[in-house]
Amino acid sequence: MLNGKNILLAITGGIAAYKTPDLVRALKKDGADVTCVLSQSGAKFVSELALQSVSGNRVYTDLFSLSAEHEMGHISLARACDLVIVAPATAATMAKMAQGIADNLVTTLLLATTKPILLAPAMNWAMWENPATQENVKTLSGRGAHMIGPVVGELACGEEGMGRMADIEDIVSAAESTLELSGPLKGLHATVTSGPTHEPIDPVRYIANRSSGKQGHAIAGALAGLGASVTLISGPTNMDAPEGVKLVNVTTADEMMAAVNSCGQTDIFVGAAAVSDWRTVDTEKQKIKKQGPGTVPELKLMQNPDILKTVATIGISGGISGGLSNSARPMLVIGFAAETENLVENARRKLAAKGCDWILANDVSNETDTFGGNNNQVHLITRSGVEEWPRMNKRELAQKLAQRIADAFLSNSGHASAGNVS
Ligand code: PMT
Repeated sequence: MLNGKNILLAITGGIAAYKTPDLVRALKKDGADVTCVLSQSGAKFVSELALQSVSGNRVYTDLFSLSAEHEMGHISLARACDLVIVAPATAATMAKMAQGIADNLVTTLLLATTKPILLAPAMNWAMWENPATQENVKTLSGRGAHMIGPVVGELACGEEGMGRMADIEDIVSAAESTLELSGPLKGLHATVTSGPTHEPIDPVRYIANRSSGKQGHAIAGALAGLGASVTLISGPTNMDAPEGVKLVNVTTADEMMAAVNSCGQTDIFVGAAAVSDWRTVDTEKQKIKKQGPGTVPELKLMQNPDILKTVATIGISGGISGGLSNSARPMLVIGFAAETENLVENARRKLAAKGCDWILANDVSNETDTFGGNNNQVHLITRSGVEEWPRMNKRELAQKLAQRIADAFLSNSGHASAGNVS
């Protein structure tokens, strides 16, 4: 199962650390390549030499080791693996993780990694049951960390109770299933629209807007990063598809609507595209010629389909052959409101008019540089309230939104009516 997988094993300071050479052996037997990172207190229970001998790899111990930085910086180390296992995971390490504290090599790697994390806690039963630890466990699980154990048994301190590190073979099978099941949105399908649409006037001219696709593409990438399978339907942009995302390129609003209806069952829909509200009634087959001085052509416009409203009120038709009778509404439908005045008030109206669950209101006045720029500032409006988010980079905003979506699904036991979560 773990064939060819690179595992970073972080060993922190619990007595169960003495078992980690056996864990390394078991992971290697299952096909993994294991690199160990040993905290200073972990080193009191197991030697660097023992771990190096069983793993066959250099053991990393010091955040400020120049030779380690030379061979592999801590950021690369955090990313060069498929999975990070923390065994034993002490109460202190989990508390630091929950707070985002990076004060040694292990906690720095844990903060820097974008890979799935599996924690094998081990501690005294009272420390485990302490509400502070339980709160930290909940926080970390909510962010997508996987847990194995602890189990009930005789503890190092001589007491009995819940706190023993899980058995080696159980940690190995948890590693296998974590690699199959990584991310809180695993098993969910998200469809994201992004970029502008181009509505042709004649073979060389079109109606468009300044959307770059930066925001929509970042959202697609962030959702994929949390494990969702993502279809990104994009109008014309210069952006590449984010890693792990299926990209469908379209040009017009009509094509975008058809592509949305072709992407099948969807759990989460995010409409970040700046869809043109209108298109010309007739597209001229030939380039419109300039007429005499003072004479300009008249463009007759008609309404484009409202993709967000269709998805929120009718659903996604489940493929071109599906037809409307097979339409299913995604569990969570999120739109954007691009406004230049009365931001929250107008966005609230849009939320109701479009029938979506959440709307992100962004000010797109010229001076904000929201269209095309790298930063955005939004108000998240749900049926039950308004949250003002600070101005941030579009990638950060995408990650915050993706996490918010994951929290909504998790607090609804993964499914039913995430849209009602504020
Ligand atoms: O692409 P960037 O340069 O990164 O900029 C990001 C953005 C400003 C384009 C993005 O954050 C944003 O605000 N997208 C929505 C732009 C828009 O068209 O807003 P709207 O208020 O006109 O539309 C409201 C909602 O309805 C949007 O979710 C839109 O996708 C959707 N819509 C609108 C019209 C239409 N015919 N179909 C739709 O689905």
